Amino acid sequence: MSRGADVMLLLLVALHALLPTIFMDAGAALQEGFYTSNTNCTVDVEATVGSVVQQFISADRGVGAGLIRLHFHDCFVKGCDGSVLIDASPVNPDPEKGSPSNGGLRGLEVIQEAKRQLESACPGTVSCADILAFAARDAANILSSGAINYGVPSGRRDGLTSAASDASQSLPPPFAQLDHLTELFAAKGFTQEELVTLSGAHSIGRAHCASFSQRIHPNVSDTMDAEYGAGLQQQCPPDAGEAVAVDQDQGTPADLDNQYYRNVLAGKVLFNSDWALTSDNTTRQMVADNVGNQAQWAAKFIDAMRKMGALGVLTGDQGEVRSLCNVTNSG
Ligand code: HEM
Ligand SMILES: *[C@@H]1O[C@H](CO)[C@@H](O)[C@H](O)[C@H]1NC(C)=O
Ligand SMILES: *[C@@H]1O[C@H](CO)[C@@H](O)[C@H](O)[C@H]1NC(C)=O
Ligand SMILES: *[C@@H]1O[C@H](CO)[C@@H](O)[C@H](O)[C@H]1NC(C)=O
Ligand SMILES: *[C@@H]1O[C@H](CO)[C@@H](O)[C@H](O)[C@H]1NC(C)=O
Repeated sequence: MSRGADVMLLLLVALHALLPTIFMDAGAALQEGFYTSNTNCTVDVEATVGSVVQQFISADRGVGAGLIRLHFHDCFVKGCDGSVLIDASPVNPDPEKGSPSNGGLRGLEVIQEAKRQLESACPGTVSCADILAFAARDAANILSSGAINYGVPSGRRDGLTSAASDASQSLPPPFAQLDHLTELFAAKGFTQEELVTLSGAHSIGRAHCASFSQRIHPNVSDTMDAEYGAGLQQQCPPDAGEAVAVDQDQGTPADLDNQYYRNVLAGKVLFNSDWALTSDNTTRQMVADNVGNQAQWAAKFIDAMRKMGALGVLTGDQGEVRSLCNVTNSG
């Protein structure tokens, strides 16, 4: 062998040795079916999550809405790293959950149960961030009667920190105007079209009175349909307790579909942020396009959810795989 070839061979050997660490460190890509080749798991990881989600949604469809919101709130704050799931503890008294933006979260018990089953089948292997991404997809699939169905690239790791202030900074408040919404979504790499597309998730689930009471008290806002507003005044009187909530879509509250966009155009939506999509001709036209084409909206929703699911993920040996989803392994 020539000297040149020798050196080349040495370089190749060195590079080969380095490659795993290069890939293990920052930025390894997520991949669909990440757990199918994991020899730790003898159960089908995604099917396990799917059956837990199905079981909880059968008892209460609202939980499905909660799971989709949880995934959004996880991903928009420090990436999809399960940080929204962390409970307050002596070492971390003010996690994301404590932010007003995270008021009314639900579906946490679904993640906990899926995690319990997976820890017993293959301990230390499936991240909480992945379980949440799978569960949100399964919920969207069930609540859309199969219209929204997509593969979830996985291999996320769980984050080590969670702070309420991060949530308050990144998550949009219900009173936001279009400029503010556009800015917050752009900060995560999303276009106005994607903002409009994802807002369609407000065709399911509920909202507590406090998040829209300024639009109905003392008088119904002129940005809201008067009759719809009068109905809300009855459901949410000024002295309504903190626990009172109403359906977001009063027609089909448990179906994930493009009905939301009809409601937006009719002024029959709860939040200023919903109405705000009509405050500009460009976004108003996008809303109108979604009214006209359910299949196209569903396709855009899938793309946007997959994009959201890849935000700021930890992979390889970053972060950890938690044993309990509500606490980091160090407590
Ligand atoms: C565009 C800005 C957004 C704002 C200002 C906003 C705000 C809110 C608020 C205030 C609630 C009520 C929570 C409660 O009172 O329990 C809510 C519920 C919900 N949001 Fe959003 N949201 C936005 C975007 C999104 C996105 C992008 C998604 C998902 C793709 C989403 C999914 C949901 C779902 C499914 C619910 C119902 C949750 C349940 O029933 O438990 N939202 N949102
Ligand atoms: C985490 O969840 C478990 C099970 O529900 C609970 O017993 C525990 O107290 C929680 N941890 C914290 C820090 O809240
Ligand atoms: C297999 O499980 C062990 C814990 O039992 C964990 O430390 C290890 O990282 C897992 N391996 C993979 C490839 O997930
Ligand atoms: C609310 O409406 C009433 C009568 O319709 C009117 O007298 C009052 O000024 C309104 N209040 C506000 C804050 O606009
Ligand atoms: C928005 O559309 C309305 C009619 O729907 C039109 O009168 C107005 O000029 C448009 N505004 C802009 C900035 O294009």
